[in-house]
Amino acid sequence: MNDVSLPLQRKSETLYAQLADELAQAIASGVLKPGEKLPSIRKLSAQRHVSLSTVMEAYRSLEDRGLIEARPQSGFYVARLPVLRMPGLTQPPQHPLEVVTPPVLWPYQASELKPIRVDFGLAILSPEFYPNQQLQRLLSQVTRHSPRMLSDYGKPVGDPELRRHIARRALAWGGQFESDEVLITHGCLEAINLCLRAVTKPGDVVAIESPAYFGLLQMLESFQLKALEIPTHPQTGISIEALELATRDGQVQACLLLPNFSNPLGCLMPDENKQRMVELLAERNIPLIEDDLYGEFFHRGERPRPAKAFDPPVEQGGGNVMLCSSFTKALAPGMRIGWIVAGRWQREIERLKFINTYSTPLALQQTIARFLDNGGYDHHLRRLRRIVAEQVTAAVEAIQRYFPADTRLNVPQGGYVLWVELPPEIDTRELLRDSMAEGINFTPGELFSPSRSYRNCMRICCVETWTTRHEAAIRRLGELAQQRLVRPEA
Ligand SMILES: Cc1ncc(COP(=O)(O)O)c(C=O)c1O
Repeated sequence: MNDVSLPLQRKSETLYAQLADELAQAIASGVLKPGEKLPSIRKLSAQRHVSLSTVMEAYRSLEDRGLIEARPQSGFYVARLPVLRMPGLTQPPQHPLEVVTPPVLWPYQASELKPIRVDFGLAILSPEFYPNQQLQRLLSQVTRHSPRMLSDYGKPVGDPELRRHIARRALAWGGQFESDEVLITHGCLEAINLCLRAVTKPGDVVAIESPAYFGLLQMLESFQLKALEIPTHPQTGISIEALELATRDGQVQACLLLPNFSNPLGCLMPDENKQRMVELLAERNIPLIEDDLYGEFFHRGERPRPAKAFDPPVEQGGGNVMLCSSFTKALAPGMRIGWIVAGRWQREIERLKFINTYSTPLALQQTIARFLDNGGYDHHLRRLRRIVAEQVTAAVEAIQRYFPADTRLNVPQGGYVLWVELPPEIDTRELLRDSMAEGINFTPGELFSPSRSYRNCMRICCVETWTTRHEAAIRRLGELAQQRLVRPEA
């Protein structure tokens, strides 16, 4: 494998290898679809001004890699993909657990491990997907226009223009709140942090998805909260029946959920489930902390509504949902601007924000507000969604192509993380050790559950433009997994 991205443009050592790389790239990026016929050897040799034997060699090497297949009397076709089954409803333990997260396997912090060459581990999109130059120009305009901003703390609740934009954009999905109900935070993490502090105390039980994002588990651990994992379906999210049972006897003090494209399952709760959940929790007086960080990342159709859309305004007896989100995934990861619409807990959240970080950098808030003014945000989001959906499709196809036959894989309807369930004999921490020796990073499943379930699972983040480098890395992961199946004790 090569450390440099885009081997398509790279000069391979030989002409046939270069041609094979180009075709592999077209297959990886979906330009050539599974089952599609390739040009005949004669035609491609004429098109590309190369010899017949060069094309034949290229096709042969792609056949060896399992990317294309020869059909007698017919020609060469892009290989059809095996259909992988979807994981089922998860079955976590039915009792609350103290959260003790394992020493997080941040391989890039471990000096004995080789550097990462292909990173499927972090859910951070590639910097070139963002309008950095435009944001940089707006930031200098904002500070030039009002230099005092740099010496101004700003209000704890945030910049009025930005709060107005957030409330206005929420109208599109039926958000029923005013701009003065929005509070600006340091990313979604501070938003969730404040919500947990507002509605829980140490020892309380918080219901979460299973599997759940390890960053949220670490937060529960730091607040000494217990986690109750709710069975979760890879397509439709948490089981409402299980939630109904779990919250019957008063043991749960809060729910912390991602109804839109959870991390790591990528599931999307149907609207009727969201409505039932909001009504159930309001009836039982259990606050719902909703993390809608990935709501904008739908691959097709419309933006899904957050559960907050089913929560009536506070003055009509609602306000039980605390909506948390941010611009970190969708627009500017480095600016760390997030928000909360805290419903009934608004005053308490304002008080906690004041204590926690007082306010959020004004220049950064105004930069984002200016970006939202000029209407470029929707255009940017459309482009980002398309890019992300392409990476996910390419990764799904590569996993179908190269992973062991009884792997289970959910194709998410949004977001950019994939949850892969390998055969039960495989421990993905050991697989990570193998793959990190070759510079390939991913997140092992164990990190996503306080019960340390999911040892045979892994999260694959599709965060960079898909190239044959990524294709080769997935292929290698598949081979390493296969080797562990053959000699599981290694
Ligand atoms: C589910 C989830 N919530 C929250 C966060 C953190 O959001 P932010 O970067 O806006 O603080 C992440 C980051 O990966 C995440 O995956």
